[in-house]
Amino acid sequence: MGKAREINATQDKQTIETRVRALLERMSLEEKVGQLNQVQATGPNVVEDLAPAIRAGRVGSVINVVDPEAVKALQYIAINESEQGIPLLICRDVIHGYKTVAPLPIGQAASWNPDLVRDCARIAAEEASADGINWTFAPMIDIARDPRWGRIAESLGEDPYLTGVLGAAMVDGFQNSANGGADTLVACAKHFAGYGASEAGRDYNTTNIPENELRNVYLPPFHAALKAGVETFMTSFSDIDGIPATASDFLLDQVLRREWSFDGAVVSDWDAIHQLVIHGLCENDIEASYLAAQAGVEIDMISSAYERHLPELVEQGRLSMDRIDTLVGNVLRVKIRAGLMDRDVMALPEEPARMKGLNLVREAAQQSLVLLKNERATLPLDVETLKRVAVVGPLAHEPAEQLGTWVFDGDAERSVTPLMALESMLAGQVEVEHVRALETTRSKDRSGFEPAMHAAQAADAVLLFLGEEAILSGEAHCRADISLPGVQAELVRHLRAAGKPVIGVLMAGRPLALGSIIDQFDALIYAWHPGTMAGPAIVDVLFGRASPSGKLPVSFPVMSGQVPIYYAHKQTGRPASPETVIHIDDIPSGATQTSLGMTTFHLDAGYKPLFPFGFGLSYTHFDYSDLTLDKAQILMGERVRAEVTLQNSGDRSGTEIVQLYIRDRFGSVTRPVRELKGFQRVSLEPGESQRIAFELSTDDLAFYRRDGSFGAEVGDFDLWIGPSSTDGLHASFRINA
Ligand code: NOJ
Repeated sequence: MGKAREINATQDKQTIETRVRALLERMSLEEKVGQLNQVQATGPNVVEDLAPAIRAGRVGSVINVVDPEAVKALQYIAINESEQGIPLLICRDVIHGYKTVAPLPIGQAASWNPDLVRDCARIAAEEASADGINWTFAPMIDIARDPRWGRIAESLGEDPYLTGVLGAAMVDGFQNSANGGADTLVACAKHFAGYGASEAGRDYNTTNIPENELRNVYLPPFHAALKAGVETFMTSFSDIDGIPATASDFLLDQVLRREWSFDGAVVSDWDAIHQLVIHGLCENDIEASYLAAQAGVEIDMISSAYERHLPELVEQGRLSMDRIDTLVGNVLRVKIRAGLMDRDVMALPEEPARMKGLNLVREAAQQSLVLLKNERATLPLDVETLKRVAVVGPLAHEPAEQLGTWVFDGDAERSVTPLMALESMLAGQVEVEHVRALETTRSKDRSGFEPAMHAAQAADAVLLFLGEEAILSGEAHCRADISLPGVQAELVRHLRAAGKPVIGVLMAGRPLALGSIIDQFDALIYAWHPGTMAGPAIVDVLFGRASPSGKLPVSFPVMSGQVPIYYAHKQTGRPASPETVIHIDDIPSGATQTSLGMTTFHLDAGYKPLFPFGFGLSYTHFDYSDLTLDKAQILMGERVRAEVTLQNSGDRSGTEIVQLYIRDRFGSVTRPVRELKGFQRVSLEPGESQRIAFELSTDDLAFYRRDGSFGAEVGDFDLWIGPSSTDGLHASFRINA
């Protein structure tokens, strides 16, 4: 069976290569360059505007046309009126939903649920393909360890393993296991590579990533996406170690083509080929085109540099026709594998039933919620005993804001806000009084505080919907101070004086620094931007119709100045410990320079995050016991099996995300203090217990070593299985030579 599939795959591969070669033989240089040229929508007359160039074979892909009639007209011209009849790639940023919007990627990551993440990408593909889109620029799998960076919202968090697993699931969902069907989107792994390390968390800024860190931290998710069959990669805007990624032959040629054997297409980011000139890497667009084409960028996203200059570079003999054929072949291969050459791309699939999407994104929103605090079991609220709630804050009823960033096509009319859901789901049972209190999360006008106070005094509980509007995160939307914007913190303190339970629901595109306000909440749910069905998902959790199960995919700092702060840090030669930390307020008079701890911490913030990676509470309680390893020593190439008993010792059903971490105690290069190597979502009824097993091979423990090679090293390992990156049962084992 396996063998037969292999032979078919080989034949398919041969057929594809034959088709690619046959096309190349027929194409003129101008037509070849056309396949490398991506143009953007021009406005209401896009079909008329683009028709001449498409007819002449000078365009291979079009970005941002979403009117299905226009798409069909453009495809018609490409197929029937151009000499080669090659269909267009029609691209759009379908990042976390199309019309029906799922939680932000960072929120989806909090579900730690690859199946759900895959399904969200699937529904997005089904909706978008109904409008003729066939290529999305997602997933964004940049490791994001700096929440000042607005694009952390689009990321899957700080961890290479979690990002790799979930990014691969997204690829699979968009491409539907690469079946080339009409309801699929070609996926794009972006931004290759290192974009998340933008200095100071400022978008587009320079990155400096040593090769060892690049290979061990930033590249693994891209390799996982490649193994999941991703057809395209997008270059990062940023400069990495002196070379903008769009001209990096190390990244695009050495790593992507030679080491990983990628045979799909690389697209530049928006105008990024021209921006090589602005970076100061070269003097003009001719050189920029030369550098990008030599490095291995197939498609020029809208800068038109390729269109203007590749022909002359070939005529001058600087770029060979072989080079052009390689680039064009990579694009044609993607079009063939995506089924564009074999199906009627003008026959668009039906839009999926609306309820299918709504049900799915409601489930996704629910699983994305992370319960960060729940003093004295404030939550879940009880409809039987509660008579009246005050619903306060600028984000309780904002149909568009709850969708988050990157929702060009998101239909806010489909949104159900928390206020709408509270009013409809509690009708006849609990009275709901809504006071906005602040016009936006950024307002400084305190005149709404008193009406909010009155509502709080008259209520049994205060539900505060705070955070950040969508505009405060995403591309080019970075913040240096990542605490709650405006006077929201003051509002929380003010309302606390009403003496009622204060329950926060924070919607934001990044982890906010909550150190100075956390003690003012009795309970706190972190909701990210939950998407179309935010309201029902949040109400389900507030009222215990669902138990929260989300876990943080990124560490939460106490204060902004701590970032970047992440769990998989290095030990350093002077690790901090509770005994060595001194707070600035406690420095004894007469302290001398060497009396203050002399370990790695901040005098005002210590060394720990407010909430660690992997953390999230539940309404029930899970106990971990009886961790066993089948072997204390293994040889290179062998596996170790770890098992633990998980028991739901509370009185509600619930889902736990069981996490496996390791530490390689000594390495030829220093290794992180902990690394996630596995996780499982486990649902248990009250009193129920289950034995959970993980298997690790020595390949799972491999990393890029001091000599640049990849592999595991002999020596001692710690292993933890538990509920977060700072907790869990411990065991150890050893790899022998
Ligand atoms: C720029 C962004 O960096 C990228 O992620 C996006 O896909 C392109 N623009 C296209 O909109």
